[in-house]
Amino acid sequence: EAIEKGGFDHFMLKEIFEQPRSIADCLRGRLKADEGYLKLGGIREYANRLENADRIIIVACGTSWHAGMVAEYLFEEFCRIPVEVEYASEFRYRNPVIKEGDVVIAISQSGETADTMAAIELAKSKGAIIFGVCNVVGSSISRITHEGAYTHAGPEIGVASTKAFTAQLTVLAMMALQVAFKRGTLPLTQYNQMLIELETIPSKVEKALQLNDQVKYISELFKDARNFLYLGRGYNFPVALEGALKLKEISYIHAEGYPAAEMKHGPIALIDEEMPVVFIATRDKSYEKIVSNIQEVRARKGRVIAIVTEGDTVIPEMAEFVIEVPATHEALMPLVSVIPLQLLSYHIAVMRGCNVDQPRNLAKSVTVE
Ligand code: G6P
Repeated sequence: EAIEKGGFDHFMLKEIFEQPRSIADCLRGRLKADEGYLKLGGIREYANRLENADRIIIVACGTSWHAGMVAEYLFEEFCRIPVEVEYASEFRYRNPVIKEGDVVIAISQSGETADTMAAIELAKSKGAIIFGVCNVVGSSISRITHEGAYTHAGPEIGVASTKAFTAQLTVLAMMALQVAFKRGTLPLTQYNQMLIELETIPSKVEKALQLNDQVKYISELFKDARNFLYLGRGYNFPVALEGALKLKEISYIHAEGYPAAEMKHGPIALIDEEMPVVFIATRDKSYEKIVSNIQEVRARKGRVIAIVTEGDTVIPEMAEFVIEVPATHEALMPLVSVIPLQLLSYHIAVMRGCNVDQPRNLAKSVTVE
């Protein structure tokens, strides 16, 4: 087992550090930015159904559902197709409205999650076309879907999903861009720019991993906290959800992710000098708004840890700690901004003596209801 961990103390840490490679593996053969080439080979026969969809329904559970939330922003922004993101467990029992030709994207690392499978079967029985985004080749979900794209992240052993999540985001970004290109909803110059940007992601993730020592230092200071709040807006809102889930899963600290603007409708009541608040506040359309949210937390003496874009000079003036990640297009930022959050949950869990790779009560693949 020590050999399998490749010199890391845990599978989770090994998998976090594998991400520059797993994302590159996911892009391999599919993207050549300098030639303007992008193609997901697994989406062929039904490609026009996806391109002409009136709406897309995404079904998933857990971390895969968070990847689906990012995909909602991607498909709506780039393709102008309305998207609904559903917890598979709710969708399957709700008698959902599905019509012939609707498009469903099912996201699952394992390809075996019972609720996601049931949601697919239900949608299929009503005539929907199902695209799978799975990591495990030949898994049940990859077999019951019409077509799909593998994430090619390699086996993920740690129960808390890390490299599978970033590979899902990578596939979903490629899918959205491919559809946008066909639909003509994204100007060609912007499309080409996105391809170039996508190709730089592995090196940006590599750079974000160099934050490990800084994140470890911060973890030491916050490891005894009883609660955590994670806040983000736009593309970083699902990242806030994912950061909170990671912390809950492996350190057993209660954590909540929220869209930063919703804070005033509830969570703000929780803020006092003992509440750590992690802001994912990289430079994007909602930057000014999130800066105000940080001020609101500071005014109530909350302890702010902010993930910011390199070179930010405003937020360091108001946050207790800032973690600087490389700049990228806001639509791809989740691939980078989630890295320090994965590391934060990892270090806190280790410091609390938790079983990081096999947290209590959780299973890697949930094949029962
Ligand atoms: C379990 C795992 C999570 C995962 C979720 C969905 O709860 O512990 O890490 O996100 O299932 O799994 P899937 O394999 O469908 O992505």
